Amino acid sequence: MFKLKILGIASFYNNASSSLLVDGKVIAAAEEERFNRIKQGKKYNFPISLTDLPFNSISYCLEEGGISIDDVDIVAYGFDPAKKISACLNDKETLQDDGQAFFVNLFNYAIPSLEQPRISYYLKKRLNGKKEPAIEFIDHHVSHAASSYLLSGFAESLVFVNDGSGEEDCISTFIANDNEMIKLFSVPRKHFQESIR
Ligand SMILES: [Fe+2]
Repeated sequence: MFKLKILGIASFYNNASSSLLVDGKVIAAAEEERFNRIKQGKKYNFPISLTDLPFNSISYCLEEGGISIDDVDIVAYGFDPAKKISACLNDKETLQDDGQAFFVNLFNYAIPSLEQPRISYYLKKRLNGKKEPAIEFIDHHVSHAASSYLLSGFAESLVFVNDGSGEEDCISTFIANDNEMIKLFSVPRKHFQESIR
């Protein structure tokens, strides 16, 4: 009988980690820091390169599930690089107010985002796969909201995400039920940046 196997990966910012779900059940989940002993799994809290993928954690999850990377049906990556690139390039307000911040954003976030579609290639290469796994880029705040709601046990819930940064937003609110998750409102990312200046 077919069983849907999803490998979840988070690594764009900090807390590099992964998880394995089989038919919606969490089989394994682990933070990379438990293996490499680097706090939050990465030396830097912003994306530098794809070698920062949490390969130790991924290998652990696959091992726990008794499968290889070729058995994975979908890799769900909790960040949408295309959305991030477009948010950085279209951030005219930051460009006008603070040119330096605009270019820091561009180099720290938009340029590494361009490499994200190559994640499948790196997974195949490092995990000795025969093919590149299918990958789905999930909106960062939808990922946060789904991970809380789906494990909450509630049939319906209001979900509040208060984050450092998603692709475009720092705060999002959703209404969630068994069938769907609808975004009610969000606060643009620049308000988080303003609050820490
Ligand atoms: Fe986040």
